[in-house]
Amino acid sequence: MFISNLKIDRFKNLSSVDIDTDKNVNIICGDNAQGKTNLIEAIWLCSGLKSFRNSKDKDLINLDSQGFNIEVLFENSFRKQKIEFKMSRLNLKDKYIKLNGVSLRNLSDLFGNLCCVIFTPEDLFIAKGFPVYRRKFLDICISQIKTSYRRVLSQYDEILTQRNFLLKNISLGKSAESELDVWDEQMSRLGSYISVIRYAYTKKLNIFAKKLYNEISKEKEKLNIFYNSSVFESLENRSDYNGEMANEYLSELKKTRQEDIKSGFTAIGVQRDDLITEINGLNCREFGSQGQCRSVALVFKIAQAYILYEETKEAPCILLDDVLSELDSKRQEFVLSRISDMQVFITCCEDIKLNGGKGKTFYIKSGRIIKSH
Ligand SMILES: Nc1ncnc2c1ncn2[C@@H]1O[C@H](COP(=O)(O)OP(=O)(O)OP(=O)(O)O)[C@@H](O)[C@H]1O
Ligand SMILES: [Mg+2]
Repeated sequence: MFISNLKIDRFKNLSSVDIDTDKNVNIICGDNAQGKTNLIEAIWLCSGLKSFRNSKDKDLINLDSQGFNIEVLFENSFRKQKIEFKMSRLNLKDKYIKLNGVSLRNLSDLFGNLCCVIFTPEDLFIAKGFPVYRRKFLDICISQIKTSYRRVLSQYDEILTQRNFLLKNISLGKSAESELDVWDEQMSRLGSYISVIRYAYTKKLNIFAKKLYNEISKEKEKLNIFYNSSVFESLENRSDYNGEMANEYLSELKKTRQEDIKSGFTAIGVQRDDLITEINGLNCREFGSQGQCRSVALVFKIAQAYILYEETKEAPCILLDDVLSELDSKRQEFVLSRISDMQVFITCCEDIKLNGGKGKTFYIKSGRIIKSH
């Protein structure tokens, strides 16, 4: 899949952008604060996921304007497609979103059409950071290939919020402990399902990542990734998330119930699980060097793209925001060579020659494309 034309107007500082993009490499070059990340963000939003910068809707519109227009033409192996996304300051709730001329209600309805993998400097900390970043990574990867997973995740989050609220009320004597039963039952079924799916994805991720890490470390180091559940001892060969697994989940929740009431939080569950990365048997989060952690991050992202490609039969669009400049030439070369059959957008401050000078470079200044070749 690749984007062939991109129009962006009055989105943040971007103005009158209208570019025919290259099927392979697109370099967005400009000084700081000229609009490079904004351009990447506009593409990303059209993939149907929330802003990776957590921008609020109203902040997406140019400060001096009443609304923005984005139009993306892209092609997959079957056909040409068009996404139109407009938003007006006067009516932020009522977004104008169209896919191939058909109106959609929410941005998330675009999901699954223009598939992107984004890589930002923050992602470089995935191996070292808090477990929440790794869970988020897993959840985005899985959502991209399994639409139903997103729905289950948001149901689980909703129940978790309700349960935690109830826990606080129980400790204040405002609610009865027995009210927890109904939440715990639902939580157990949804949590078991999430565990099974995350486990299966991690296994797949491990296969791709292991191979890639072997290459990047020139066979000197061995990577191993596994899913660490806070509920289940092992998830191997388990799939009965509505039966046996849900019962086990429920009984684990019962065990920590009194502790939960005291703290007002749910101590176990998929919101506490982690993706563990080991290099030569040592936990990367605790023992990994900076270089090793960077390599793990690269490998994770490339593996994400490969799995997406395999599952959807379409190459995703790769968005590299400011990461190349963070990498040494060996790692730069590694990333680019592994995604050479996918379209890539690369932002950078300095003019760089990639792919033997093939592809296009767009120069951006004060939100406008001033030159391209
Ligand atoms: N709603 C908005 N209206 C107008 N300008 C905005 C709006 N939101 C952000 N900007 C401006 O857009 C500019 C460009 O931001 P962007 O993050 O894209 O820069 P960049 O080229 O990626 O820079 P860097 O190289 O530092 O990452 C910033 O100066 C920011 O103040
Ligand atoms: Mg930027």
